[in-house]
Amino acid sequence: MTKHLHIKTFGCQMNERDSEIMEQLLAQCGYVPAAEAAEADLIILNTCSIRAKAEQKFFSLLGSLRQEKRRRPGLRIAVAGCVAQQEGERIFERMPHVDIVIGTQQIWRLPDMLQRLERKESRREIACGLDKHFVIPPFQKLLRKADAPQSCRKFVTIMQGCDNWCAYCVVPSTRGREISRLVADILEEAALLVSQGVQEITLLGQNVNSYGTTNPVAERPVSFAELLRMTAAVPGLRRLRFTTSNPQDLSIELMQCFRDLPNLCPHFHLPVQAGSNAVLRRMHRKYTRELYLDKVAELRSFCPNIALSTDVIVGFPGETEEDFEQTMSLLETVRFHGSFSFKYSDRPGTRSADFPDKVDEQVKSQRLERFQARQDEISLERNQEFLGKSVEVMVEGRSESGVQGRTGSNHIVHFTGPDALQPGDIIMVT
Ligand code: SAH
Ligand code: SF4
Ligand code: F3S
Repeated sequence: MTKHLHIKTFGCQMNERDSEIMEQLLAQCGYVPAAEAAEADLIILNTCSIRAKAEQKFFSLLGSLRQEKRRRPGLRIAVAGCVAQQEGERIFERMPHVDIVIGTQQIWRLPDMLQRLERKESRREIACGLDKHFVIPPFQKLLRKADAPQSCRKFVTIMQGCDNWCAYCVVPSTRGREISRLVADILEEAALLVSQGVQEITLLGQNVNSYGTTNPVAERPVSFAELLRMTAAVPGLRRLRFTTSNPQDLSIELMQCFRDLPNLCPHFHLPVQAGSNAVLRRMHRKYTRELYLDKVAELRSFCPNIALSTDVIVGFPGETEEDFEQTMSLLETVRFHGSFSFKYSDRPGTRSADFPDKVDEQVKSQRLERFQARQDEISLERNQEFLGKSVEVMVEGRSESGVQGRTGSNHIVHFTGPDALQPGDIIMVT
């Protein structure tokens, strides 16, 4: 009998990829996707804990599913992702209508857990172990074939976890130790995706620059730049991207890839977090403002038109007006094409949650507003540099105004074009 699955994904691309893996695993057990939660036999909430707001959003959605479960007792509700990892059993206590809690390294066990529930061998299932010797299971070829419709862009996970322990961040505790995946697995997955019509691959990790250096895999370790070169050489791959990089170990070798690899997209997401050295130090980011700016200049010397984006936190504990001005001046110096900026948020188990001198909520809001307003102006000026230019665009779909696509520099483009254009087509647009 066909069963219906609805997955709601919060948070980052890691979670998006994990949701895809869960969907693929469950496709083998007869589950097909349902567009609406109301039609689903199984609802999975794949959660994010990065900021308090992300977690609240999830809990309020989960709370609202209580009615649904009462109405349809056969409905199964599973909680995956970083809140599941962080809260474990406590989710059952707070939300008794949940059937399954599954941690970030355990998603592959989902089919077994469901089966035990179906056979009434258990009433509830939980698996939240984090193992420092965890090996990312090789992807299963069959699973990828179940993907329909095939998208022209895919993520390939190259590492899990993070060992950086930035003072504000939950990721090292929710995703565990940094573990690099086998080169052969990565290349095999990339080649298979390309053979299935995928045009663009994004290599995923919290800290891709240290690929191969931590928790060495059972083979000759290769650097991230080497891995990038090998992936770029997969025959037929049109576009290659990666995320996320930590400035502290951004090597010259990696920068040179932007000069040498024609299919490596000229976009670099390089989170800076703050422009003040005092704040960076307290955040436990292991670079200075000066080092960051040097790296940006070097990167631009290898690839002058590279588009840069960043992440910024405003209102970190102890951030003064002068500290914040340093972030504003860094924005003026680099002139990022775009950025993601956030108000600092206390997270359970992080060191900065216990730091003194918390910044007032209102002050954080004002700083965020000021940063974002200036970024918007700069982004517009940056976009105006494209006026009259012809750029290569990969079609991603249709939009109200016609066709929607993306440039190598990661700009979304809306344009009018023939109906025959399909996702994955690469064309020049002025
Ligand atoms: N691995 C990536 C970031 C992953 S989290 C890196 O090292 O850059 C994504 C972004 O969320 C971070 O870059 C940071 O800007 C933001 N973030 C993380 N923890 C936060 C917190 N406690 N409060 C506010 N923003 C936070
Ligand atoms: Fe979090 Fe820092 Fe690791 Fe990024 S590098 S995931 S911000 S601890
Ligand atoms: Fe969120 Fe976990 Fe990603 S906290 S940002 S889903 S690694």
